Amino acid sequence: MTDLATPENFLSLRTHQQGERIESRLETTAIDGLSAGEVVVRNRYAGVNYKDSLAILGRARIIETYPRTAGIELVGEVVRSDSDRFAPGQLVMAHGFRTGIAFDGGFAQFARVPAAHLMAVPQGLDALQAATIGVPGFTAAMALDRFIAQGLTPEHGPIAVSGATGAVGMLAMQILSQAGWRVAAMTRKMELEPVLKALGAHEVIDAGGIGAQVRPLDKARFAAAIDNVGGDMLGWLLRSLSDGGQLAVVGNAGGNDFAGNVLPFVMRNITMFGVVANAGWPVRERVWQRLATDWRPDFAALAPHLHQIGLPELLAHAAAQLAGTTSGRTLIAL
Ligand SMILES: NC(=O)c1ccc[n+]([C@@H]2O[C@H](COP(=O)([O-])OP(=O)(O)OC[C@H]3O[C@@H](n4cnc5c(N)ncnc54)[C@H](OP(=O)(O)O)[C@@H]3O)[C@@H](O)[C@H]2O)c1
Repeated sequence: MTDLATPENFLSLRTHQQGERIESRLETTAIDGLSAGEVVVRNRYAGVNYKDSLAILGRARIIETYPRTAGIELVGEVVRSDSDRFAPGQLVMAHGFRTGIAFDGGFAQFARVPAAHLMAVPQGLDALQAATIGVPGFTAAMALDRFIAQGLTPEHGPIAVSGATGAVGMLAMQILSQAGWRVAAMTRKMELEPVLKALGAHEVIDAGGIGAQVRPLDKARFAAAIDNVGGDMLGWLLRSLSDGGQLAVVGNAGGNDFAGNVLPFVMRNITMFGVVANAGWPVRERVWQRLATDWRPDFAALAPHLHQIGLPELLAHAAAQLAGTTSGRTLIAL
């Protein structure tokens, strides 16, 4: 997008509430019209997450107050700062802390961000690399951080990743395989098996073959799982973990409800936990530091699955994402 934008006159996708209707449209905005913050950022990239697509199309009550610039993550340069922690020219990013929900977020050329929500992009990552990882990569890495804290090592066996062709799925595969784990990718798109193998999957399993619960336990196959799908997939993964297995519940792209039973817990000592990307600072800093170093994904391998679009294309992309027809990671280039 053009750099002729100024903080007084820039493009944004604003989401409005009109009665029961939620409507998002492109508008020219000025910084003074945005939620308050000490730091003005010239946004360069905003990742599009499943949650953003729900928010801007009004398919779920994600946004708390309107009008709002959605976009739960952003990466850009500081252009003005009333905080002594940030200086003009510095590369920064924000995600979580209700960015794009209660504070204006990434779907605009500029943002005004509270200093308490902002962090410097870790050394070793440029703006595009930090945005490529973004919330999906950070979330996958949070799951890995927790697996390791609970004693998991690559010798325990493979980690299953569901919704493998999605943003969290692809980043999880890359991060896990770069960090030395074997990965079993679960997907409904078996035609993408070669792509998933090139991204680091050792095995690709057809998610279409996962039915509703028939047995209380299935064959023990995985040491851990990162589930982005929920529903029958979550139940199947729970029944398919080996002794001491760990199940990180990340997403619900396939549904909220799942059928489960007690046996995986009392016979296989399974631990199941939720992951919320809106982490506190110690976890945030530790996990991003690893993402910039030993958990750094192979950006060249991810490049074919990284889609950069402009703000005018965002609403169509969001509809396709909710219809389940997108794959990989999509960034708004600003
Ligand atoms: N907990 C957190 O903090 C956090 C952070 C980020 C994301 N999330 C959640 O994690 C999930 C994945 O996010 P994402 O960014 O990877 O989304 P995404 O890019 O849209 O990918 C979701 C993937 O799930 C699978 N899928 C989609 N619809 C499905 C359906 N109806 N039934 C079964 N599988 C379906 C597809 O993979 P295949 O076609 O390969 O099967 C799709 O590529 C979302 O629910 C998102 O809200 C949570």
